[in-house]
Amino acid sequence: MPSSAIHAKEATLREEQYREVRERIDALIEDEDDWVAAMATVVCELYQAFDHYHWTGFYRMTRDRTLVIGPFQGMHGCLRIDLSRGVCGAAARTQETQLVDDVDEFPGHIACDPRTRSEIVVPVLKSDGSVLAVLDIDSNDHAAFTDVDREHLEGLCSVLGSKYGD
Ligand code: SME
Repeated sequence: MPSSAIHAKEATLREEQYREVRERIDALIEDEDDWVAAMATVVCELYQAFDHYHWTGFYRMTRDRTLVIGPFQGMHGCLRIDLSRGVCGAAARTQETQLVDDVDEFPGHIACDPRTRSEIVVPVLKSDGSVLAVLDIDSNDHAAFTDVDREHLEGLCSVLGSKYGD
């Protein structure tokens, strides 16, 4: 099978996986107004759903403009991240998704786990446009994340920011 057909098949499968996990997440947090409970539910469901996810967690923006770890799945992660550092700091500063195919090529990448090869970090924005948190997902596979991941994670984080960011 040509590689383009394989990629298309993989993209279709990943789309379906995101639809399924998003249905579960939406149902689980529908009546939940607690942000910590929602974050814990999101990282649990995402981490269980995808083989290319090897660390999944939130870093919350605190009043002193530091990212502090929230609910996560995987090995222990660093507890605090200055906005000037790492892929998470870049996502918080720019308020834009950081999709990194090779973490060794990202200046200032923070390697909580030496096995991490690629990463995606999506900002969660409040209704007023400020940063509530960032969703950080690491993979031990090179270039593990695609625009399918970006699109679905941005959609999820947009809903989370609107629901919990007031
Ligand atoms: N890799 C992140 C730090 C968080 S640990 O990966 C869980 C970064 O560079 O910001």
